[in-house]
Amino acid sequence: KNIAIVAGGDSSEAVISFKSAQQIAEVIDRDRYNAYTIFIKGTDWTVKQEGKADIAIDKNDFTFVEDGAKTTFDCVLMMIHGTPGENGILQAYFDLIRLPYTGCRTFTSALTFDKYATKKYLEGEGVDMARGFMFRKGQQVDADALVEELGLPMFVKPNASGSSFGVTKVKSVEQLQGAIDAAFTEGDAILIEESINGIELGNGLIKTPSKALVFPVTEIVPKTEFFDFEAKYTSGMSEEITPARIPEEVTERVQELSSHIYDVLGCRGIVRVDYIYSNDKLYFIEINTIPGMSQASIVPQQVRTMGLELRDVLTLEIEDAIE
Ligand code: DAL
Ligand code: MG
Repeated sequence: KNIAIVAGGDSSEAVISFKSAQQIAEVIDRDRYNAYTIFIKGTDWTVKQEGKADIAIDKNDFTFVEDGAKTTFDCVLMMIHGTPGENGILQAYFDLIRLPYTGCRTFTSALTFDKYATKKYLEGEGVDMARGFMFRKGQQVDADALVEELGLPMFVKPNASGSSFGVTKVKSVEQLQGAIDAAFTEGDAILIEESINGIELGNGLIKTPSKALVFPVTEIVPKTEFFDFEAKYTSGMSEEITPARIPEEVTERVQELSSHIYDVLGCRGIVRVDYIYSNDKLYFIEINTIPGMSQASIVPQQVRTMGLELRDVLTLEIEDAIE
């Protein structure tokens, strides 16, 4: 079967997507699949092959022609973090041209890439979350009222982005405006949330009709103020401990909650849910429907800790997508 690993995209996270895609290309089961890597940037969609010139993708049917021969794909392996690969845009395109793809469907992708919408969706499901407000560009932010309501420090983040681009932990009211401006560089809506002191946890999982794999829980100990971009991607800037040093009973609660959230949101494929554990409560932070797959990323670590091969988990995801 021919698999298209689709990478790149139009957001700040493109650089991370390349790392994830590279790792996926290395581990994908080559006995089973012919894997091609396709870079998408704006309207430039090209097949990258080592030692060969780039070939343009025909967007009518997502195929390409090389030496007169046309290559079609059986499945797309979505590896773009951020737009247009994690927010439903490419998913809708592949739905229209009837090409199977891994991961969440169009609606779930669009929903979960909007942090505020996801929180609203999960309200009433008994999920604890940080209190916060969303602001759109041009809306007035009353700094004093916010500090009164949420206290300091507070988090200012883009409502729809990843890898902590544009996120600031605001410690004084003077810092707020700069943080708001930084968050708006990533998109038209931002979230301002209370800061919850606790242990940051990440938990990956995949559920298919035949098999559910809820991975071990990872505890994140950043050496920076929070698990920011530097901590996420600079070796030595954070410690990721799998399994997390939390009681077994809490681990089970995390895994049950992740599984419940997965079902409520109608997820598909490999996702990762992030939490803060504080005062014996699990605060949902966000869900990543195209979680990082680079060497430094959390899901590959969890798969290893579970004694599984990432290759086999990818096969499970691909076969579920093709079915
Ligand atoms: N957004 C990054 C890639 C992650 O969730 O791992
Ligand atoms: Mg994220």
